[in-house]
Amino acid sequence: MTATGGPEVLVAQEVPAPEPKAGEVLVRTEAVPVLFPETMVRSGAFPAPLPLPLVFGTQAVGTVTDIGAGVDAALIGQRVLVAKDDFGTYAEQVCAPATSAVPIPAGLSSEEAAAVSMSGSVALPLLKAANLTGTETVLIEAAATGIGGYLTQLAKEAGAARVIATAGGPDKAGQAREFGADVVIDHLDPQWPQRVRETLDGATLDVVFDSIGGESALAVLDLMTPLSGRMLSYGFLSGAPAQVSAMDLIMRGLTLIGCSGPQWLAGVAQARGAALERAATGTLTPLIDRVLPLEQAARAHRLVADRATRGTIVLRPGH
Ligand SMILES: NC(=O)c1ccc[n+]([C@@H]2O[C@H](COP(=O)([O-])OP(=O)(O)OC[C@H]3O[C@@H](n4cnc5c(N)ncnc54)[C@H](OP(=O)(O)O)[C@@H]3O)[C@@H](O)[C@H]2O)c1
Repeated sequence: MTATGGPEVLVAQEVPAPEPKAGEVLVRTEAVPVLFPETMVRSGAFPAPLPLPLVFGTQAVGTVTDIGAGVDAALIGQRVLVAKDDFGTYAEQVCAPATSAVPIPAGLSSEEAAAVSMSGSVALPLLKAANLTGTETVLIEAAATGIGGYLTQLAKEAGAARVIATAGGPDKAGQAREFGADVVIDHLDPQWPQRVRETLDGATLDVVFDSIGGESALAVLDLMTPLSGRMLSYGFLSGAPAQVSAMDLIMRGLTLIGCSGPQWLAGVAQARGAALERAATGTLTPLIDRVLPLEQAARAHRLVADRATRGTIVLRPGH
């Protein structure tokens, strides 16, 4: 990443191979997921953590080839998922903290593991925090891809009685329906909360998984069950977090649950093993949009920005 800006700031370059420091593993990468929050860092919407230029990327799947001091030698040769807060995973070789390494279960491909690693492991703690009762109606926003897609796959198992979802356009609506949504509303219509109201026909939403945020969140509050409704706020695809005030919540007797920040993300990291295990045993279907050569990272970011993906893009290093 040469600068903040459009996808073109991601360029393929030769750099020295990294060497593992104490507490680190060196991984020969096989599959590198392109993650939505990464596109926000690249564009400058989220702050870049380090001076530029840097080797981009936050997660990778591959085989451990070397270790730094203090790391269990049994890790060498293992296929793992690693995560790096300080970037560096869009690469053929990656050094990452050994504590971040999660073994990939047998039977799960590296591409599948890369696809499910972030979004699947966010969906699991979201469903836990929602604490569904078995009789409740939920709204899942942006349900055709990523976190929304995994939430939709798992919502009924986690205790949702009825799943209303949103997606952009007929193809993505079809995909959300395949994942288990009972009704899908097109969120490309700016009046989509009104369409949810019509669908509810007097009933109310008990739980809202809000990834769109912005102005629509306030309209959605009016559709929620007074006194027991919970909005789980975990993203702001519209460009702004949910525009709701404490008074908006107080006067409706609603709860807004914040699902981000360091402690939340530590819980997400904890859930990575469970997400991979579910993918390996078939209770969560990994959503791979396509596999591209690592050199095409800029193209991958462009596809995400254009909302043209139907799952995670996985980059494959050439080696
Ligand atoms: N709190 C956490 O722990 C956490 C962790 C990771 C990511 N996130 C956040 O969660 C959100 C979803 O991430 P993801 O990884 O699931 O993304 P993703 O798989 O890349 O999917 C993004 C999808 O969102 C929809 N979208 C994009 N812009 C939109 C807009 N303006 N309005 C409505 N929908 C829009 C698009 O679907 P359609 O084509 O169907 O519109 C797009 O395919 C992001 O805001 C991300 O930053 C939160």
